[in-house]
Amino acid sequence: MKLGVIGVGHLAVSMLDGIVRAGHAPSGILLSPRGRGLDLAQERGFALAADNAQIVADCDLVLLAVRPNDAPDAVRGLGWREGQILLSACAGVPIAALGAAPARIMRIMPITASKLGASPTLAYPDLPEARSLLEAIGSTIALGSEDAFEAATVSAAMYGWAQALIRTGADWTAAQGIDAADARQLVARTFTAAGRMIAEEDAPMGDILGQLCTPGGLTRQGLDHLEAEGVPEAWEGACDAILARLRG
Ligand SMILES: NC(=O)c1ccc[n+]([C@@H]2O[C@H](COP(=O)([O-])OP(=O)(O)OC[C@H]3O[C@@H](n4cnc5c(N)ncnc54)[C@H](OP(=O)(O)O)[C@@H]3O)[C@@H](O)[C@H]2O)c1
Repeated sequence: MKLGVIGVGHLAVSMLDGIVRAGHAPSGILLSPRGRGLDLAQERGFALAADNAQIVADCDLVLLAVRPNDAPDAVRGLGWREGQILLSACAGVPIAALGAAPARIMRIMPITASKLGASPTLAYPDLPEARSLLEAIGSTIALGSEDAFEAATVSAAMYGWAQALIRTGADWTAAQGIDAADARQLVARTFTAAGRMIAEEDAPMGDILGQLCTPGGLTRQGLDHLEAEGVPEAWEGACDAILARLRG
């Protein structure tokens, strides 16, 4: 399916990096001229549309990655056709707010690790025609309802919070006199390892963590400190606040 992109900003550029990295030719992807569209066409050989209507006229799969408030206006009245798919990455924008009939609408929530082919992208509904695009940027987790999708998209914010934690750990390690580049790699790869153990082992998460937390041990002592400082509740509170805003 020919891909077009409306809204060529931070997210779309990371997705385009991943799509090209997976072997798709930039010349076959049509970009809207705003944002980074013109630069990417001139510097990297993507095709450039005159306007959004040309994207809808020429493409079967259209990625929408404008800021949420801009989304309804960006898709309205563009001449959508039967058989097309509008792939909306806009956080908190329900399908009902996007007037793209008779095109089908699929909501996705990728993260910028798309550029590495490592985005665990959420999707609703699961339309098979979009699968190869999502596989180019990583893996897909399909949800069974739009409500469940909305709740799960809080994970895209957790991605940023995890990066903030990694930075805290890396800065602390460097402050102990460790080379800053080594500290960054050490802490980042430790988080990657923690994620892989949870993602790839079948044992209950409590058992995996339990193996690290021997009574009186260092990991247990640190977890007790974090729990006493209210870290789990603060994390849950942040999730609740983001979801309330998404449902807003
Ligand atoms: N950033 C992330 O990591 C991330 C992750 C998941 C989902 N998202 C979602 O992705 C969307 C984009 O986020 P972003 O961070 O990439 O924003 P961004 O960097 O601000 O990019 C948005 C782009 O959309 C362009 N635009 C606005 N209205 C347009 C229109 N009518 N036609 C064509 N282009 C238009 C803007 O161009 P101008 O500069 O000319 O206004 C800008 O280049 C948001 O809805 C967000 O919820 C982002």
